[in-house]
Amino acid sequence: MFKKSLIAVAAASMLTLTACGGTGSAAGNAGTDKITMGFAQVGAESGWRTANTKSVQESAKKAGIDLKFSDAQQKQENQIKAIRSYIQQKVDVIAFSPVVESGWDTVLKEAKTAKIPVILTDRAVDSTDKTLYKTFLGSDFVEEGKKAGTWLVDESKSATDTVNIVEIQGTTGSAPANDRKEGFEEAIKANPKLKIIASQSGDFTRSGGKQVMEAFLKNNPDIDVVFAHNDDEGLGAIEAIEAAGKVPGKDIKIVTIDAVKDGMTALSNGKINYIVECSPMLGDQLMDLAKKVIAGESVPERVVTEETTFTQEQAKQVLASRPY
Ligand code: AHR
Repeated sequence: MFKKSLIAVAAASMLTLTACGGTGSAAGNAGTDKITMGFAQVGAESGWRTANTKSVQESAKKAGIDLKFSDAQQKQENQIKAIRSYIQQKVDVIAFSPVVESGWDTVLKEAKTAKIPVILTDRAVDSTDKTLYKTFLGSDFVEEGKKAGTWLVDESKSATDTVNIVEIQGTTGSAPANDRKEGFEEAIKANPKLKIIASQSGDFTRSGGKQVMEAFLKNNPDIDVVFAHNDDEGLGAIEAIEAAGKVPGKDIKIVTIDAVKDGMTALSNGKINYIVECSPMLGDQLMDLAKKVIAGESVPERVVTEETTFTQEQAKQVLASRPY
């Protein structure tokens, strides 16, 4: 089945390169044709996203790939429109980071019918038909949630009372929100004293995190821990906690995911207690995969990003050299 799709990709790349007015063959050879990539980005909701956009744009330039870029402002209908427009423009490859997991089959089938290969980057779709895309490059979000939960289990080893956790989820229906929740819940089962007492979406934004935390503080006098699905939400929560006269990192512990500069600064200042890294630097790998897919070479179905975790001490050591 995979062999068949490679043949289809090879045929498609010849067809689309011709459509772009080229005379040479597929990507990476002859050097006369430029690959055109249509990239449908989620939006600009977080520091992570800004770094990811920069990485994709810089890597495309370095790789000699002509990048058509669109920002969906966190709306699925905008991403679908952008993908349809890339199909009409007969780009060589489409890459996108799906804002939510569901509802992509129709547009992905349209791309397949047009013989334009699709690469998923950063976030997954829940399509059961895996032939609708060539590969998925990005983090293991379940693992990230588990790392955050495992840190908390360790941190609360000596707790004698219930530990009240509030969770600020990412965008509802998105792969990172679904998976981080799942991984975190799985890990904290190890200590029955750990209880999620409230959980709401902050849409991966700083303002969302602040608003949700304000409401949590109003309704729950005894919050011990915030689990925020990204740094920006955690930074918003810090503002709400300080405005309520409490000390973030001490009165209320905070664990987040991403490790962008602002998050790492708050971690090294003691306002966040632990960060699980999610790397936005996907550009170089994405361009390599795109070239291979267009050349008809085989690529792995899944490419998982390598990531680490940071304590406050580790954050102090690496902060100055953090590239984003
Ligand atoms: O999909 C990756 C997530 O999306 C990042 O953790 C978050 O910051 C972003 O908005």
